[in-house]
Amino acid sequence: MMLNIIILAAGKGKRMHTHVPKILHQLGGKPLLQHVVNTAETLHPQKIYVVYGNGGSHVREQMATLPVAWVEQHEQLGTGHAVNQAVPLIPDESQVLVLYGDVPLISKATLQALLQQTPPNGLGILVTERVNPFGYGRMVRDGYGKILAIVEERDATPEQKRIKEINTGIITTSAKNLRKWLPKVERRNNQAEYYLTDIVALAVAEKCPVVGVMAASNDEVQGVNDRAELAQLERYYQHTIANRLMLEGVTIMDPARFDCRGDIQAGIDIVIDTNVILAGKIRIGNNCKIGPNCYLKNVELGNNVEILANSYIEDAIIAEECKIGPFARIRPHTELGKNVHIGNFVEVKNSVLGDHTKANHLTYLGDATIGNAVNVGAGTITCNYDGVNKNRTIIEDGAFIGSGTELIAPVTIGENAYIGAGSTINRDAPPKRLTISRAKQVTIEKWTPPKKEKVK
Ligand code: UD1
Ligand code: CA
Repeated sequence: MMLNIIILAAGKGKRMHTHVPKILHQLGGKPLLQHVVNTAETLHPQKIYVVYGNGGSHVREQMATLPVAWVEQHEQLGTGHAVNQAVPLIPDESQVLVLYGDVPLISKATLQALLQQTPPNGLGILVTERVNPFGYGRMVRDGYGKILAIVEERDATPEQKRIKEINTGIITTSAKNLRKWLPKVERRNNQAEYYLTDIVALAVAEKCPVVGVMAASNDEVQGVNDRAELAQLERYYQHTIANRLMLEGVTIMDPARFDCRGDIQAGIDIVIDTNVILAGKIRIGNNCKIGPNCYLKNVELGNNVEILANSYIEDAIIAEECKIGPFARIRPHTELGKNVHIGNFVEVKNSVLGDHTKANHLTYLGDATIGNAVNVGAGTITCNYDGVNKNRTIIEDGAFIGSGTELIAPVTIGENAYIGAGSTINRDAPPKRLTISRAKQVTIEKWTPPKKEKVK
């Protein structure tokens, strides 16, 4: 069966109170529209059409990498009008599936069920039941349970308003049917809009089979109309990810305080403490521990890595057995070898640290290439910026950097060199020697403390 998918995304999103088009608002770190497109792709359609309008060029620019065809709806005249912008581009013999850009968590399984249960040439509607159906289109059935029509809230009689079965908005039928029905849809309703839902009565009148397929869960067909609904869906989404991870061998101390804003690949026997945010591309090896309140974005952790509380790590590759934090900051383009220790208030940027190297306290390592088994004392600073250029510091294997050292780059510290504490090093230090640049210490014997002047 040939399938084309139309995603409706031109609506204003009034209740979001925003200058940002609704479908660009984020859920799990990705724009709403991206979730829908990603799910649509799993059905292998011939093409995905996104009907956009509100915030037009902005949406297209921001989502330029999406594998979709963009169709502009100049005026938002209703869902029927929106679908009709894309229908002329789709061949007659194709099946069409209509999705909403603001219903982000619709699942592949549910869409497959809808497509499978819709008879050839028929019309399939994804439905659900709501305790409070207010605002939704109601499924009107006859005494035998046969679908007759969909009636919108504003057009419903008091009796119809009591119907709990609602239209999720997601429908499927052939392009041929849509081409036949949509031009017959009129604007004679409370909002003077072209309602896509009016095709149901047209199909019924033609004795075309109409089926309602129940969605697997209410959450997956939940639309985002305001920020409160967005937050609810966010939690639901986070729970599904946390559940998946837990079932795969990750301990999450409190799934209600876990956030994934990207894609995670995780091993087993991992422990993630509360309030951890994992963003971008994350890979976590076996037996890793991530302490409370950590933020990791685009990070790869080898096996047995321990990240202690309140650490912030971005764009870094961290090899096995490393111990980071608490209160560590690792900035982009950092690579740590095996069993590296980065302690509290240590900042590392654009640097490579070799195996078994340690920087345990209060240190800045920027633009540095550091070998294996180097010991960086407390309060060491690589002075990498001369006001114009960034320069590299090179520290070779086994070197010992005494506390409070300033390494003025470009500078090289040789293998197994010792740097005396408190030194300011602006020339290369040779291997296996002690280099020290401390001012000579003097004590002034005849010194007396200053006295306060008397105020008259
Ligand atoms: C629609 C359905 C209703 C259903 C509900 C589910 C109709 C007439 N009503 O109502 O039966 O219960 O969804 O949420 O279809 N859009 C456009 N262009 C437009 C109008 C809308 O692209 O001119 C898009 C919106 O961006 C949104 C979707 O279509 O993604 C639905 O529009 P919305 O205005 O939210 O429809 P509802 O009134 O909620
Ligand atoms: Ca809606």
